[in-house]
Amino acid sequence: MKLEHKIAVITGAARGIGFEIAQCFAKEGAHVVIVDTKGAMEAATNLQKAGFAAEARALDISDYKQVADSIDAIVSELGSLDILVNNAGIIARGTILDLDKEQWLKIMDVNVNGNFYLCKAAIPHMIRQKGGSIVNITSIAGKMGDITAAPVYGASKGAINTLTKSLARQLAEFGIRVNAVAPHAIDTDMSAEWSPEKRKAVIESIPLKRMGQPKDVAQAALFLVSDNASFITGETINVNGGYLMD
Ligand SMILES: NC(=O)c1ccc[n+]([C@@H]2O[C@H](COP(=O)([O-])OP(=O)(O)OC[C@H]3O[C@@H](n4cnc5c(N)ncnc54)[C@H](O)[C@@H]3O)[C@@H](O)[C@H]2O)c1
Repeated sequence: MKLEHKIAVITGAARGIGFEIAQCFAKEGAHVVIVDTKGAMEAATNLQKAGFAAEARALDISDYKQVADSIDAIVSELGSLDILVNNAGIIARGTILDLDKEQWLKIMDVNVNGNFYLCKAAIPHMIRQKGGSIVNITSIAGKMGDITAAPVYGASKGAINTLTKSLARQLAEFGIRVNAVAPHAIDTDMSAEWSPEKRKAVIESIPLKRMGQPKDVAQAALFLVSDNASFITGETINVNGGYLMD
């Protein structure tokens, strides 16, 4: 098993890509902590029933005090924090004309500030442990922009892409690797909002001619946090069926 004795915190892990990452890491021997605003306990219970080491933290990642207190409590209860996956994210659809200031601030608050708060709380523990691995779940929209997701979503993911590289440079000397996965068109509640026409057009535009599955993202995240990627930091892996090759 690739992640035996590792403690892994995964945000937004009650469902979708985050849950799949938690399940995948648990299967590889990690003790996973499922962080979410809702459904965290149910998700953790499901993993426990399947025989895995899992627990829940009901938590809003855009609340700095909640995040800092929870990370400290996790480390004091479980002894370490080896892996952090910043997966929780929200989206708003439409153009700049549809988008209002409150939506902009809300999305930045969760997608960017929340990511920063988790890093800020987790990194001192990783430095003390002399190592750790962080994976940020970003998006193709952070690289290309997007005409359907309101501009704030792409901007928030672009900020995460830059944060990933900056932290990778700053933290390498402490043995901490920071990488990202940039998915596109993954079958979850987020993409379930698409009309049948949009879904068809998206699949048509993807060279591999299918939607991605949460498992496709989870396998990329597993690779990045595992020792197989020990010489990789500051990297963003595309998981998009060949739609963007950069
Ligand atoms: N599905 C896709 O096609 C796709 C494509 C590119 C990137 N992504 C990214 O992948 C990540 C996961 O997306 P998904 O498709 O599984 O979405 P999802 O909506 O199914 O799941 C997101 C999870 O995050 C949780 N969450 C939202 N706000 C939170 C907060 N403030 N604090 C804690 N938890 C919070 C939600 O409760 C939910 O469980 C997101 O960052 C998303 O932007 C998804």
